[in-house]
Amino acid sequence: MNKDSKPHDGGSTTRAQFATRLGVIATTVGSAVGLGNIWRFPYEAGSHGGGAFMLCYVFFIFIIGIPVICAEFIMGRGTHSNIIGAYRKLAPGKPWYWAGYMGILASILILSFYSVVAGWTLEYFIQSVSGNLDLGSTAAFHDRFESFASSNYRPALFALLFLAVNYLILRRGVTAGIERMSNILMPVLFLLLLIFCINSLMMPGADEGLRFLFKPDFSAITPTVLLGAMGQAFFSLSLGLGCMATYASYFNHRTQLARSATLTASLDTLVAVLAGVMIFPAVFTFGFSPSAGPTLVFEVLPSILHSLPGGIVWSSLFFFLLILASLTSTISMSEISIAFIIEEKKMDRRKATALNTCVAMVLATLCALSFGCLSGMTIFGMTLFNLFDYLSSNILLPLGGMVCSFFVGWIADRAFVRSQLTNGGTLRLRAMRVIIFCIRWIAPVCIAIVFLNSIGFIN
Ligand code: PFF
Repeated sequence: MNKDSKPHDGGSTTRAQFATRLGVIATTVGSAVGLGNIWRFPYEAGSHGGGAFMLCYVFFIFIIGIPVICAEFIMGRGTHSNIIGAYRKLAPGKPWYWAGYMGILASILILSFYSVVAGWTLEYFIQSVSGNLDLGSTAAFHDRFESFASSNYRPALFALLFLAVNYLILRRGVTAGIERMSNILMPVLFLLLLIFCINSLMMPGADEGLRFLFKPDFSAITPTVLLGAMGQAFFSLSLGLGCMATYASYFNHRTQLARSATLTASLDTLVAVLAGVMIFPAVFTFGFSPSAGPTLVFEVLPSILHSLPGGIVWSSLFFFLLILASLTSTISMSEISIAFIIEEKKMDRRKATALNTCVAMVLATLCALSFGCLSGMTIFGMTLFNLFDYLSSNILLPLGGMVCSFFVGWIADRAFVRSQLTNGGTLRLRAMRVIIFCIRWIAPVCIAIVFLNSIGFIN
């Protein structure tokens, strides 16, 4: 953000702006790239048939993801408001702003289980640095993770520690430091992923791993796979809850919305694919089960890292960068409710941040314990951790995305939408008609079909 302008100083009319074009891309990609790519994508793909999931995921990214990012960008940059304020400004007196509240609920649920996984990363970083992750056998990695995740206090403690760091960064309202750091370090994460991919491609299980990930079995495309892939596309792009709209409210009038949306989606997808290429050859080489669920990556990763010479250094660096990538994502999801509380409830930034963190800390503790003493507490057959994940990613985000694209496509003023896409008519955007068509028709209709299909309404 521009150093000269203070973000949300409690009622001030000057809002912060991202200073450069690189700043815009770095922050939106920073939000999108995180545990969703490296932890969630491989385990979702693994438990939904690999290639079939991958195909649906990439399809949804381009056919729904990019238009919905554009829709969120239009709302945010066009109103310079938090998500609820944006709905209110564009449709005064109408109840559309309820979609904004749904987004805030989703952001809190995600923050809660996300910080548990970030806490696992923190634990693994500490274990790496102290040389304790060097276990040798596949079974040992599995047992180590099981006993850690199900222990009663460590996972909760690390989740709380992570939330405390998130709080300290957000409280100052100046995320410039972390943004600058991530601008420099994210390319390093990317480079590491590439190196690990090459290493995985030389493993004996590489062929089987690549076949699993890239060769779709069309008969495996079921309603559950479609819903899972759509949920993953939304989760990975930080979409459907107002995060991209909130960030776009800090864009300036020169930011090219459609181009930024396409670049963000492409880079995010590239990172997810690389994570898949890194994980699956190792899954088959070391004899893990691809459908192990949320714990998959934390069992497989140490095996990959330790198959490299100088494993301790690689794994310490990797887990450190993963923590940073998680922070740039949690900062963005926290900003949705913080911007709302500051602007609509007129609270100062510190109090708003504290409120957001306190709620997340309570829920995160429950999520962390759902691998241990609360594992027997299930709702609809899911532990709290799984329930929060399923409810937000597979239901709330796509629903939020559907409302947002419908709203921008049909309710918001047409001239306003065009003017946002073309920066007041100064840009010649050849794809404008296609984008508007996707926002009005393709995205809402596709999301509705996947929903109806998953509840057995359409077959
Ligand atoms: N897109 C992030 C990831 O893939 O890790 C997760 C996320 C960030 C979801 C911000 C939602 C959000 F608002």
